[in-house]
Amino acid sequence: MDDENQNENFCNGSLNTLISWQKHLKVRQMCQKFVMNNKKLTVFMNVLSNLIDLGLKKETHDTSTIRCFQTYAQDIPTGNEQGRYIALDLGGSNFRVLNIELDVGRQFRMDQETFSCSKQLMAGSGEELFDYIAQCLKDFLTKRKLESEINLPLGFTFSFPIYQSRLDSAILTNWTKGFTCDGVVGNDVVKLLNRSIAKHSGLNIKVCVILNDTVGTLMSCAWKDPNTKIGLIIGTGTNCCYLEKIDRIEMFDGDSSKEEMVINLEWGAFGDKGELDDIITKYDKTVNRNSVNPNQQTFEKMVSGMYLGELFRLLLLDMAKNNLIFDGHVPEILLVPQSITTNVISTVESDVPETYTLSRQCLQKLGIENVTESDLLNIRYAAHCISRRSAELVAAGLAVLLERMNEENITIGVDGSVYRLHPYYHQILVNKVNELVKGKSIKIMLSEDGSGRGAAVLAAALNQVHCIYFVVILNLEL
Ligand code: BGC
Repeated sequence: MDDENQNENFCNGSLNTLISWQKHLKVRQMCQKFVMNNKKLTVFMNVLSNLIDLGLKKETHDTSTIRCFQTYAQDIPTGNEQGRYIALDLGGSNFRVLNIELDVGRQFRMDQETFSCSKQLMAGSGEELFDYIAQCLKDFLTKRKLESEINLPLGFTFSFPIYQSRLDSAILTNWTKGFTCDGVVGNDVVKLLNRSIAKHSGLNIKVCVILNDTVGTLMSCAWKDPNTKIGLIIGTGTNCCYLEKIDRIEMFDGDSSKEEMVINLEWGAFGDKGELDDIITKYDKTVNRNSVNPNQQTFEKMVSGMYLGELFRLLLLDMAKNNLIFDGHVPEILLVPQSITTNVISTVESDVPETYTLSRQCLQKLGIENVTESDLLNIRYAAHCISRRSAELVAAGLAVLLERMNEENITIGVDGSVYRLHPYYHQILVNKVNELVKGKSIKIMLSEDGSGRGAAVLAAALNQVHCIYFVVILNLEL
């Protein structure tokens, strides 16, 4: 190569670098609103804390966006629980039936089967949904020759907002996570399930406890670690529960011989009355507008797995349209709503820094080829902003609860696909929580199948007898 050509290449190289750098700066500006700082998080925390107070007060409980539902879970496991249980777990596009055996020394064995919950079922009638669950339960028990067992107490993890007045009764207040089955909102889910079980399967079993998945997570972790006071889910949806002193729960009507009760915050609804408008982006607004439940579950739509992929798609689409990636070409897939799942974010962020092997493969599978390093850098940055915002907002929520608790050592039980699959979500959570809360020793612990085991543990803690329980879990987290 002669000197002139070399100079020209060098100039082209520098020009390309400059253009790439300018594009990257523009991408950063575009993502700016996703970036949280401690000032924004402090405002978020103050508002959330006030809403929790309102949720716990009799007068304002019904109107607070943070509902603070009583769960009637007051028997925190000791770790000595034993026995065989069956759990039903409904909370997402799959539901599971589990046969769980708790043993001395905090040992457990679990046998489970997953059944899919089709889109038609999620949008059909409540009766069809519960009939299907009852049928799957029967199939599960029949296969294990357990169908003729009598007095099988059944635990039901039902991962939707429920108003409880007892451990074995729960009125669905609204559906979330894409479910819209009619005839269920305003009704007792336990009755609906028991009716389907009696009608269709001929089984002689009844639900003895119903619980939210966050409560299952808390229970399941408390069984292993007695410092567990908070249960958190960051999966298809998000939510959190915590142990509250009964004298701080104004509408408390549980067992007053016990000092605490688990409160289900249903924090996914945070922002439904505009409380998060200052930090919401135009992409969040689009996701909300296109969802099956507009203006509901605002926080959930900023944080959880059902929505992060779609936020990512919208952001990439905007970047492509503005000629910041793909040389201004808009790949077909970015025009298709819901075509990018939250797993794509996790994969893109799993590449070793400055390498893009997984990202390239993943984009290729989506039909996006010929990407440059500059594109990949920007795509990763967008993914990072979305997941980091999620983790930091969740950390701020946890900080509010940790501040309320007069305990020095607290373990937080966590479950959910976003938390489990993202390469460093856990680390962001840990760092941010420790930055926001001083003077406490905080442990964040992955719950091993909180939804399933938690139902068994709650049933066992409630009823410490050595008999067989059946716990049914309806959970969309898989
Ligand atoms: C539901 C909660 C549930 C959470 C996680 C939300 O959509 O409202 O009840 O705990 O998802 O599954």
